[in-house]
Amino acid sequence: MNVLIVGGGGREHALAWKLSQSRKVTALYAAPGNPGMEDVACRVPLQTSGEGIDKIVEFAVKESVGLVVVGPEGPLALGLADRLAGRGILCFGPGAKGARLESSKIYAKEFMDRHHIPTPAWRSFSALDEAKRCLSDLPDAPVVVKADGLAQGKGVIVAKNRAEALSAAEKIMDGRFGEAGRKILVEECLVGEEISLLSFADGKTLIPMLPVQDHKQIGEGDTGPNTGGMGTYAPVSAFSAETARTVEETILRPLRTALRSGEFDYRGCLYIGLMLTSEGPRVIEFNVRFGDPETQALMPLLDSDLFEIMHACAAGRLEEARPPEWRDESAVCVVMASQGYPGEYSVGRVITERPVAEELARDSWVFHAGTSRDARGGLTTAGGRVLGVTARGKTLETALKRVYARVDSIDFREKTYRRDIAYRELTRRS
Ligand code: AMP
Ligand code: GLY
Repeated sequence: MNVLIVGGGGREHALAWKLSQSRKVTALYAAPGNPGMEDVACRVPLQTSGEGIDKIVEFAVKESVGLVVVGPEGPLALGLADRLAGRGILCFGPGAKGARLESSKIYAKEFMDRHHIPTPAWRSFSALDEAKRCLSDLPDAPVVVKADGLAQGKGVIVAKNRAEALSAAEKIMDGRFGEAGRKILVEECLVGEEISLLSFADGKTLIPMLPVQDHKQIGEGDTGPNTGGMGTYAPVSAFSAETARTVEETILRPLRTALRSGEFDYRGCLYIGLMLTSEGPRVIEFNVRFGDPETQALMPLLDSDLFEIMHACAAGRLEEARPPEWRDESAVCVVMASQGYPGEYSVGRVITERPVAEELARDSWVFHAGTSRDARGGLTTAGGRVLGVTARGKTLETALKRVYARVDSIDFREKTYRRDIAYRELTRRS
């Protein structure tokens, strides 16, 4: 079957790498893809917003694509999956209705309340003075203020006190996020380990993948501003067998019932952002796509044929497919970024890589995120997050040794990365 991947980041590179290993995939296309994907997919210069959506559908029809895998949330919120369904093409990724679980945080909260899925207490506001009045009535304690809509990861402010919460509400509602910031959510602030639990969904059921932990902040020791994610590791021991049972009972079971309720037909990856609190696991967010860089750590651990699973999800036949199998190993992804990210940074820096020992090359991968080719075909930086260097090992320690050895072989001016990925796991064990 011909398969088209929509997107061009590290997540899509990792998905393409894994899909390309399936004997059932005849041709693999990536729109727009990135230079790193050229080894495994044929790049198609199409955009993933505006008119690009029509062009993606046209391309899929013309090239007899049987399955479209959508990486980012944007095209899903714009209804790409619905448009493909209209042309009889299977899509891994929900329609616009299901995508609201990510594109409207208020919708997601109402959905969770309706289906008794545990989530922090919340209130929503569409007027600033109303939000301010409520915040003034609440105790002077930490709260989280969130823009309702998609705000490129910048619409969430964890406020330490009332003053910070008031200014967060003002900031989000001052128009900088456009429609996304027209409504806000004020949420109870939870404390605990954050886990990304991604799952395969086919409209009726849902199968969780391995638990992953992302390091969202730019600075070591989880300090400084939030980013799209600076590194991940899987699996995570904080997600114990007992926690898994509680999550199954209190979150996954009601979620399956919710998926069957007919509100929408959810086929794709449902990313459940969990906080493990002293009172039990709580859902702090849904994403309607794979995580980035969670995917880079997960794909090298997946032992099954990704195409078969994705196709089963898109066809609504996950229960008939072989259940996903995972290697009993660890994986770590370290994001190499441009200095200044998540603020301003320079691009166009030449990327070089020293050859590495065959042994290391076998168990490590360099997934591209923000890269491009210069006129002579050389590789240059083109974004904040540049590369997702990933390694696998029988133990976390081995995976860590390998990943940093691979990182050391790569150079570009003003590179930056965290040297402490997975430190929480190492602390937990010591
Ligand atoms: P979100 O986009 O909703 O995942 O929020 C971004 C980040 O803000 C999360 O990854 C958490 O670190 C933090 N966060 C969101 N909601 C809460 C909450 N209710 N309590 C504590 N931290 C939160
Ligand atoms: N790594 C966080 C996300 O993909 O949303």
